[in-house]
Parts: sequence; C-alpha cells; structure tokens
Amino acid sequence: MKILNELLPVEELGFGLYFAPLKASSHYSKGKWGPTEYSSDLTMRIGSSAKVLHYAQEIFEGMKAFRQVDGSVAFFRPHANWARLNYSARLMAMPDFPEAEFMEMISKMAKQLDHLVPAKPGALYFRPTMIGTSESLGVATSEEFEFFVLASPAGGYFKDVSSDKPVSVKIKVSDKYTRAAPGGTGSAKTGGNYAASLRAILEAKNEGFSNVLFLDAREKSNIEELGGMNFFVVDQGKLKTPPLGDTILAGITRDSILRLAKALDIPCSEEELSIYDVADKIKQGKITEAFACGTAATISSISQLGWKNETLNLGSSSEAGPVSTLLYKTLTDIQHGKSKAPESNWIYPVR
Ligand code: PLP
Ligand code: COI
Repeated sequence: MKILNELLPVEELGFGLYFAPLKASSHYSKGKWGPTEYSSDLTMRIGSSAKVLHYAQEIFEGMKAFRQVDGSVAFFRPHANWARLNYSARLMAMPDFPEAEFMEMISKMAKQLDHLVPAKPGALYFRPTMIGTSESLGVATSEEFEFFVLASPAGGYFKDVSSDKPVSVKIKVSDKYTRAAPGGTGSAKTGGNYAASLRAILEAKNEGFSNVLFLDAREKSNIEELGGMNFFVVDQGKLKTPPLGDTILAGITRDSILRLAKALDIPCSEEELSIYDVADKIKQGKITEAFACGTAATISSISQLGWKNETLNLGSSSEAGPVSTLLYKTLTDIQHGKSKAPESNWIYPVR
C-alpha cells in the first residue's frame, strides 16, 4: 500500500493508487456498532473463514472532498452516499450504519487530512466500506461486521486528467458478458458486481478500450451502465439516460446531472436506450455525444463505442461535445465552490 504524507502533482496521482495514513473504523457485534477508532495502520486482521472472504458480504461507497476556491474543503452530497450505503446494506442483509457517526468519521478525517486534498481537477476520494467478519462457513449473513473508511488523494480515473473539460475514452459495448440480472444485486454497491465485470474489462482493455458498457442480461439490447459509471447520450440536443432499476446503480453524479440539466434548460429524459437504436442514431449523426459519469470518473466523454464488429465514432474528433463540456463545467464549478449548488445540502463544508 502506498501511503502519502504529502501530495504529489495531480497528474501523478491517478485513481486509488495512494492512501492517506488515516483510517476510521467501527466494529458491529451483538446488534450494535461500537465506538469509532482512528488509526494510521491501514492493515487489518480478520479470520480466514470471515464471511466476506467466502461469500462476498461487502458493500462500499465512493465520495469526494473537494478543495474550494476559498481554500477550504467540502464534501459533495455526502448524505446521498450515506443513504445509498444503507440501501446497499439492506440488499446485502447487513446492518444500517448511523448517519451521525458516518458524517463525523468523514469530517474528522477530512479535517486531519487537509494537506492531502489536491486542488482541481483532483480531490480526496473517500472509500467507506462494510464487510461481514463472522468466522464460519455456513451460507448465512454475518453477525459481526467491520465498517471502515479509507481516503485516497485522486487525480483522473482514466489516464488523462484535465481541469476544464471531460477526458475522452473509448468504450466497448459487451454483447457477451453481463454484470447484473433482474432480482439480483446490481443496484447495490457491492463487490460482487465488480467481480462480475472484471473479465469483461480485462478483455476490453486488451482490445484498446478503457471500460465496458453493459447491456441488459435477458435480451442484450437495452443499455444499462458501465463497470463503475452511469451512461448518457445527447440525442438531437436531448439528454437521455437509462431509467433506474434493480440492475443499475443509482449514481449520485447521474442524479446531479439530471437536476443540473433541468436548471440549464437542457431537455432530458430517463428512457430505455436500445443499443441498436443508439448505433443507428450515431451513424445518422443524430446522437452527437455520449458520456460516462461517476464520482471517480466525473464526466468522461465517449469518443468511440465498439459494438460487435462495428466502430461507432461520436463527434468529429476526440474532443468532448458542447453538452458534455457544459455539464462538466457546471458540475465541477459547484463541487469546487465556484458557483452555487442548486440545493443547500449538496455542499458539506468540513469544519
Ligand atoms: N455505476 C456503478 C456501477 C458505479 O460503481 C458507480 C460509481 O460509484 C456509478 C455508477 C456512479 O455513481 P456515483 O455517481 O454515485 O459515483
Ligand atoms: C466511484 O466512482 O466512486 C466508484 O466507486 C466507481 C469505481 C471506482 C468502482
């Protein structure tokens, strides 16, 4: 584990490579959470038969603390991450984690780690995580859990990082693998969903793509989301994203973009997007932009979709289009306190 005591230039940070020397944690047993402990030791001891290691009883969150234009530090929509953590907990038969303790943990960490919060386009990425630690091999929910929070100074999720516009990436549409199925755990932020995406991502990377866009498990027709990001297109000026359901993670960035689009008078809708229609509309020049979005990836423009044997190029070059660029600027200006958020609880200052 690479521990950072002082910041590196943002271009060198990448995503999830370096960690702050501070972890907050709490242990759950006999039906309740114990006191929070803070430690500079990022290792942990769990039994080799711990449930998480055999049956993947694990959930996590991804959230960022941003350097504000006035030099202070603030989280972006942390209450939404807390709410989603507990949504995931219920899907994975795990206990809720209390809001007050969650907010206190991240706030104390961010305060102590002020010197590790990079300036724009970087941020201090937080990874709240819960695992089942009971030691037994029966397939049943754990009775003991560990909740912990790591912090990682981050630059771009993909290789490039840019301050004023989205980076451009090539994405493979998988007609072979699925990450989530109806009735499963696709809408939870749980490790198993990511495990299911690893082989697809590895193969896509070997073919020169940065990530994978997954389709619905039954028909392999409707677009769902990427391995760690939601998906949008701009279709004749209208912003479109697939509707949420039990196979898609309810991204906080996705929700923020939909709200910002309304404020910016960009028409938008949540509707089924068939890959067949999307491919036709890209070829006809009707779909002019596509992008992936998430906490780690912010808004990343998609310059090319590889689907079956087709190469679908978006726009005239690898530059992000005007709608993606406007949304990127609007979102990141709010995250860095340069412009006002549409709702007061979007920005949570670290005091
Ligand atoms: N979809 C998946 C599978 C993800 O892992 C993420 C990342 O957290 C997202 C979408 C985007 O969610 P958010 O915008 O809350 O980071
Ligand atoms: C995030 O954007 O926070 C994620 O968790 C996505 C990925 C790194 C798993």
